[in-house]
Amino acid sequence: MDGLSRLEYRGYDSAGIAITGVEDSDGGPAGSLTVVKAVGKLTNLRAALAELEAAGGVPDSRSAIGHTRWATHGHPTVENAHPHVSMDGRLALVHNGIIENADALRTQLRAEGYEFTSETDTEVVVHLLDRAFHDPDLISWEGPLDGLEGGELARGWALVAAMITVVARLEGTFTLLALSQEVPGLIVAARRSSPLVVGRGEGENFLGSDAMAFAAHTTDAIEVGQDQIVAVTADSVTIMDREGSVLEPHHFNVDFARDRATKDGWPTFMEKEIHEQPRAIADTIADRLDSEGRLALDEVRIPESLLRGADKMIIVACGTAAYAGLVARYAIEHWCRIPVEVELAHEFRYRDPVVTEKTLVVAISQSGETMDTIMAIRHAREQGAKVIAIVNTPGSTISRESDAVLLTHAGPEIAVASTKAFTAQIAATYILGLYLAQVRGNKYVDEVQDYLEKLEKIPEKVQWVLDRAETVRQTARTMTDVDSVIYLGRHVGYPVALEGALKLKELCYIHAEGFAAGELKHGPIALIDEGQPVIVVVPTPRRPELHNKVVSNIQEVRARGARTIVVAEEGDTSVDEFADVVFRVPATPTLYMPLLSVIPLQLFACELAAAKGNDVDQPRNLAKSVTVE
Ligand code: AGP
Repeated sequence: MDGLSRLEYRGYDSAGIAITGVEDSDGGPAGSLTVVKAVGKLTNLRAALAELEAAGGVPDSRSAIGHTRWATHGHPTVENAHPHVSMDGRLALVHNGIIENADALRTQLRAEGYEFTSETDTEVVVHLLDRAFHDPDLISWEGPLDGLEGGELARGWALVAAMITVVARLEGTFTLLALSQEVPGLIVAARRSSPLVVGRGEGENFLGSDAMAFAAHTTDAIEVGQDQIVAVTADSVTIMDREGSVLEPHHFNVDFARDRATKDGWPTFMEKEIHEQPRAIADTIADRLDSEGRLALDEVRIPESLLRGADKMIIVACGTAAYAGLVARYAIEHWCRIPVEVELAHEFRYRDPVVTEKTLVVAISQSGETMDTIMAIRHAREQGAKVIAIVNTPGSTISRESDAVLLTHAGPEIAVASTKAFTAQIAATYILGLYLAQVRGNKYVDEVQDYLEKLEKIPEKVQWVLDRAETVRQTARTMTDVDSVIYLGRHVGYPVALEGALKLKELCYIHAEGFAAGELKHGPIALIDEGQPVIVVVPTPRRPELHNKVVSNIQEVRARGARTIVVAEEGDTSVDEFADVVFRVPATPTLYMPLLSVIPLQLFACELAAAKGNDVDQPRNLAKSVTVE
């Protein structure tokens, strides 16, 4: 349950747990399999388990599997919650991913008399596994399952063999965990594309979608590769390939602070993480200069010759991370004189993009487990491109499947709505852009240092904005009954407008849309009616060709009755006569402005969500890491 609560941020429509009872006192076939499931947040499962425990219904156990669900197939109901169970109730399975040939398999199983109690693709797998587990002609497999002996060991080998058989028949993506009351000391697992990692403990072992699930118990983790199968007892971890050949385990350390994430007195993780941004940015850009004052990125292990030869960059990401990519494009094109495309990861490979070995692909992902982005970088690498990952989670799938990694050091981001990861991602793309400019000769060492020195001043400027949040909070509290908000921005302010709108959508469930300010008169201005809230991100007045046009945009919407809320630089009085409210940010170079102008928009959405009584950290329908396509 503790591990599940650390993973709840990944999805929380429903949850469940399956517990094997220890074998009968006379060592006969094992006693029991107890399954408890509940709809909604994990607290509901905790309550159901406590009730069962009070009634003496929770057995002493040697193994258990659990699951929090973000619904893909079937509504969030108890029947559709995982674990799913075989018809005889003796085998349980949980699954992340999508089984793409589930319908065909379901038809075949139904024809053989298997009955289904759910709408999920997962239930197909548990019946397939049960069928193989009891198949007299099952392939034979023998391997180290320490701690099992006699009849339990024989059934343990059969369960591993059954998993090998089933994995070969599945199409799509999956992380599977299964256990049987016939082998209470064994958990068998398998993965394809969905995340799975093993935690190696003392006399106990763990499996999780990410290491956070067990980081409180062990920092020694074992990677599970594509199409690999795992057999875990309390005393052994056996990794094998899809044919069942035992492999050498690859250990890595997961000693990061994510398991200790607590609110530290803040009302929500989101509030805390918004206020951690000065530190997140500072830590992400820290220690990037070598002894000669040159920008050196130890995590980027791509030969400089390849970086010099790159003729295009494509940034792939989703959601907020994609908006960080949109901001990065302005800086990297300006500094490196290389064309930069920003593509939503889930669109990228279906676009049949032009990708060659001279294309540099940058994947931006907080979790490092976003399936759309994983599939995009796989496609890019198949085309010969080099991939640099900008991720916030060490040891994540995206970081392990990229050619180079540039870590953001934002610390664990628990709130589903991304804030400090966003600003840390932007800062990391600036570091990458300056590094490329230096390697490619577009910028001299002293120019890079100048840009870096200005970037190092951003954390204190972010703190300046955070210290003046009262106007933002008051404004938000007056808008609980608003049903739509328009966000406008130009140049690097445009992705900020998109991000501001996304925050409002995902936290307040209000329709919000970000537009390029110049686009307004080409149609969207028809949306402006009396009192329509319009939030405008205004460039610095020191860039008049951008600034003056946006001020005109404010006048255009104000003339049509809009309620204008403006994010503008301190001292920029040109906006005052057209703004109902002004959120101030300190003066800063245009390219760095997004790191400041997004802060009021984050605070605005967070405050309004709280004022509306919404769950700020776990908004409805969302998951922190979308590990299915
Ligand atoms: C951001 O507030 C959202 N939670 C979502 O758009 C998120 O940024 C997106 O799913 C990408 O996640 P990643 O950074 O972990 O890949």
